[in-house]
Amino acid sequence: MALIGKDIDAAIRLLQEDKLVGIPTETVYGLAGNALSEDAVLSIFKTKNRPSFDPLIVHAANKEQVRSFVKGIPNTAEDLMDQFWPGPLTILLKKDNIIPDIVTSGLDSVACRIPKHPLTLDLLSRLSFPLAAPSANPFGYISPTTPTHVNQQLGNSIEYILDGGDCEIGIESTIVSFAEEVPTILRLGGKSLESIQEFIPEVKVNDHSSSEPAAPGMLKSHYAPATRFELGDMSLLLIDKDPMETGCLIFGDPVPSLPLNNQFQLSASKSLEEASKNLFKGMRELDENPDIRVIIAHPLPETGLGRAINDRLRRAAAQ
Ligand code: TXA
Ligand code: MG
Repeated sequence: MALIGKDIDAAIRLLQEDKLVGIPTETVYGLAGNALSEDAVLSIFKTKNRPSFDPLIVHAANKEQVRSFVKGIPNTAEDLMDQFWPGPLTILLKKDNIIPDIVTSGLDSVACRIPKHPLTLDLLSRLSFPLAAPSANPFGYISPTTPTHVNQQLGNSIEYILDGGDCEIGIESTIVSFAEEVPTILRLGGKSLESIQEFIPEVKVNDHSSSEPAAPGMLKSHYAPATRFELGDMSLLLIDKDPMETGCLIFGDPVPSLPLNNQFQLSASKSLEEASKNLFKGMRELDENPDIRVIIAHPLPETGLGRAINDRLRRAAAQ
């Protein structure tokens, strides 16, 4: 198993040797390696069992560092950065040659992000290179929101996980592309659509409901537990289910006909922020319960973080 701790110097030493480190962010834990080293990046793809057509996000300490690996920043993108960085927002820009092609799967755009976590910001500011970091889970599985989640799945392939506690936001960053004619949201996430529309009213939202994604990696089935997952109207979903074998993600009131042990509360007070923080933990816990053979959930209000939560629920159900 990997060591879990707060030793930034240890993390720096490993990263300088092209090794990988689990890092905390406000969204989910990342599997980080030197973004300028082909060896380190190759090892990220191998460790995650990730297909080479699915590009990585490059994490930086500050905007000046981002400037060093992109070909210019449009004004609107700069406005978003100033407003929301550090924070759960990833911005796609034209890439400079200093970023190896393997990072972007050969695309000429690079995904850039400054995460909002004190440990990781400290780490980034003490490194001479940015960090490529996908979520620290095997490809297609649920993203980790605690160091233990990372250790459970990747602990045999990495040496160290920086312990930043539980992730505040709990779902991945929102991705906005400035590589298209009109700025386009490629993934809904921790920064709400509404807050981005305040700055870019014309922003397009790419609907991911396709099994032939416009952007690589935006596969319909993703973030999926191993257990069968069904999304819809609870009373309809319950009709053909054995209550003892049915797990349930709830938002507000529990389901009277199911054992309480089989129910994971996303937010008793119906807070979308609390639900997003708990979502992946809930999916994992139900997935790990040996009695549960099917997990059911209903869509949350389609507003604020609810949009991103519903997107993850739909993907989990699209196995
Ligand atoms: O919150 C997050 O963004 C987390 C933390 C660790 O920062 N990272 C994360 O990375 O979710 P990952 O690799 O699991 O998801 C990144 C997504 C992928 O679906 C990938 O296809 C997309 O970003 N992406 C990255 N670079 C891209 C590019 N140049 N063009 C289109 N999509 C890109
Ligand atoms: Mg991921």
